[in-house]
Amino acid sequence: MSLLITNIGELVTNDPAAGDGPLGLIRDAAVLVDGDRIAWVGARSGAPEADERLDAGHAAVIPGFVDSHAHLVFAGDRAAEFAARMNGEPYTGGGIRTTVAATRAASDEALLGSATRLVREARRQGTTTIEIKSGYGLSVEDEARSLRIARQLTEETTFLGAHVVPAEHTADDYVDLVCGPMLAAVAPYAKWVDVFCDRGAFDGDQARAVLTAGIKAGLAPRVHANQLVAGPGVRLAVELGAASADHCTHLSDADVAALAGSDTVATLLPGAEFSTRSPYPDARRLLDAGATVALATDCNPGSSYTSSMSFCLALAVREMRMTPAEALWAATAGGARALRRDDVGVLRAGARADLALLDAPSYLHLAYRPGVPLITTVLHNGVPQ
Ligand code: NIG
Ligand code: FE
Repeated sequence: MSLLITNIGELVTNDPAAGDGPLGLIRDAAVLVDGDRIAWVGARSGAPEADERLDAGHAAVIPGFVDSHAHLVFAGDRAAEFAARMNGEPYTGGGIRTTVAATRAASDEALLGSATRLVREARRQGTTTIEIKSGYGLSVEDEARSLRIARQLTEETTFLGAHVVPAEHTADDYVDLVCGPMLAAVAPYAKWVDVFCDRGAFDGDQARAVLTAGIKAGLAPRVHANQLVAGPGVRLAVELGAASADHCTHLSDADVAALAGSDTVATLLPGAEFSTRSPYPDARRLLDAGATVALATDCNPGSSYTSSMSFCLALAVREMRMTPAEALWAATAGGARALRRDDVGVLRAGARADLALLDAPSYLHLAYRPGVPLITTVLHNGVPQ
């Protein structure tokens, strides 16, 4: 079954060969969807015939957002911790243990139910690819079931057993557990291995041990790096060829140079700085140095309880000096790079038919009209959601 989306006022393809600039903009455009794939993209006047037509009413159409960093398998919330922060308490990451206790106590059904609700919430807001991490189980059984649940919702699953050291272990014991029996139990369900390399979590040597063990088990690395302090996380990520170094809030010149000279994406998570009232990462410095930047939500109950990529994009434009074009690219094609995917985050023949229609004439409105639900229709794998 083919579907022609026509009368598109402004189409963002992210394919520079198809249209203007890095966003590959085409005005007065059309897109042909065949099954779960894009079959054709171009000027409306040259559009092929199709079984069905959808008139976009001259609105803008963008690739679906690629949220390359989210923690969706958890129970409970930490609204009181958020309120305390807004009253002056600092964020330390210590609240992770509160969520671990609630998650361990929850049934499989409850965890799957709440993660499914968050994926649907994200999808309604234009997110068509989402990465989901474990990290609130922190035992062999609880990490394995977190990833089994995540695997039912996405192919982009990440083992984050090394999130913090749980109360019942010493750090060294726990790293051995993560690198041994825990990794063996989760490997069938995980594509990526991650570690929180930061103050209060894991140091450079421990992070290296976890990532190296993960790589040996066939997982590909990504790193929570330099969120709370400038530490070794970013350079370790680059050295190990990680797909992404995430947070990148506190960077030395050497960190920026390392990212710029690598294909490790700097994934910025401005929802976390918003919700922890912290200084935003310097996106301009990274972009000007030549680093590839992605934007993601970091959706989790502690530091960033938002599933809205539009909100993160607006923060990046207003607070991190990204242009609206850079921010949209980072939230779509950038996220795809951070997941090493070339079939999403782009609208060209052969790519997945993942896209969003806006109730706006231009993608600029995503940042210009913050907080407004502009996404009207979402296609995921060619299917209207
Ligand atoms: O990415 N930084 C580590 N992990 C999460 C926060 C988790 C939490 O506070 O529950 C993050 O911000
Ligand atoms: Fe995170």
